[in-house]
Amino acid sequence: MIYLLSVISFAGLTVALAAMLMIAERLLINYGICKLDINAGEKPLEVDGGQTLLSSLYANEIFIPSACGGKGSCGHCKITITSGGGPVLPTETPYLTRKEIRSNIRLACQVKIREDIYVRIPTDLLNVRMFTSKVESSVDLTYDMKEIRLRLEDPAEILQRPGQYVQVQAPSPEGPVFRAYSISSPDYEPNIVQLVVRLIPGGIGSTYLHNVQPGDTVYFTGPYGEFWLNEDPSVEIVCVGGGCGMAPMRDIILSLYDKWPERVCWLFFGCRTTRDIFYLEEWEQFSKEHPNFHVVYALSDELEKGEKWDGETGFIHLSVDKHIESGVPRQAFLCGPPLMIEAVTRVLKEKETDDIFYDEF
Ligand SMILES: Cc1cc2nc3c(=O)[nH]c(=O)nc-3n(C[C@H](O)[C@H](O)[C@H](O)COP(=O)(O)OP(=O)(O)OC[C@H]3O[C@@H](n4cnc5c(N)ncnc54)[C@H](O)[C@@H]3O)c2cc1C
Ligand code: FES
Repeated sequence: MIYLLSVISFAGLTVALAAMLMIAERLLINYGICKLDINAGEKPLEVDGGQTLLSSLYANEIFIPSACGGKGSCGHCKITITSGGGPVLPTETPYLTRKEIRSNIRLACQVKIREDIYVRIPTDLLNVRMFTSKVESSVDLTYDMKEIRLRLEDPAEILQRPGQYVQVQAPSPEGPVFRAYSISSPDYEPNIVQLVVRLIPGGIGSTYLHNVQPGDTVYFTGPYGEFWLNEDPSVEIVCVGGGCGMAPMRDIILSLYDKWPERVCWLFFGCRTTRDIFYLEEWEQFSKEHPNFHVVYALSDELEKGEKWDGETGFIHLSVDKHIESGVPRQAFLCGPPLMIEAVTRVLKEKETDDIFYDEF
């Protein structure tokens, strides 16, 4: 008991001291104006010292991916600091590999600007914009999944690569937060951003999006993401997703067939039960119009008594294993939970496929 009390008191004291240090730093230390240099003079800025690098960039309309909203829990806000970032912090190390640390990659949400700082940001990210949009429709896809269609107002068009995502601004008691949602609409609809959003009970972003109504204004930044579609028409495309992982797959497949109607493409979609199925009819119709498009849905849970399902069963990596052949030039896109991505990656590597992009969510 005494041991437990000592541990609790020590932990309490540590938290109190850390809070006091933070308050003291904010009130007593004035870092003045610091230089924030981006890409060796491409974009020189002057910012108030003492802020995080992420918030200083945001204040200057430079939007870095930040799925956790700057809490240091997603590892998405990586940028290269060539000088002035101070030592790597313990809050950053879980998200950085040794190679990244050696290459001066840091988490922008953890680094505070205390002196002049020199950073490198990929041009792609310097092109990310804040968008104002209006909700055109919000449709139930399943019991916990909604399709939300946003019409862009300002800017009126988005230049996206299929498979990219946006960060939607959602209100919260502590102020606006951003959450990542993949674009499900194709690149030939540049004035639309359609989303597929799964409701997480108590979740800030998903609850907000499940409650927006036609006519509401929604703000988001984007586009973000590293997906690059192979433009060689002889390369087969394989998309594997589960749940809201359907969103980027839809964007990729519709954009792909708009450009190359003859391309070979597989869509594997894993659902737990029949209640989780959506867009199946749309894809079956699409496969009739595009003979080289193949769609496979698989259910991982047992069927309920009296339920009918003549599709595949088991985890989705088993379906991938069953249908995909070795020795075919191929690119794969995976979106879904980490365990699914791990299992599918293993199968694809056994089939000699190394060109794999994935987003875990
Ligand atoms: C690149 C990328 C693309 C994404 N695309 C999509 C998309 O197209 N559609 C979509 O619906 N989501 C997508 N997500 C996930 C999305 O960004 C949010 O994480 C998700 O909507 C939960 O946010 P929230 O604000 O509702 O919950 P939060 O307020 O962040 O979390 C509330 C609680 O729920 C827990 N929680 C958070 N996420 C989950 C989860 N997935 N399952 C169970 N518990 C959870 C948290 O730990 C917390 O306790 C994507 C994420 C990434 C990184
Ligand atoms: S914004 Fe999530 S770790 Fe930095």
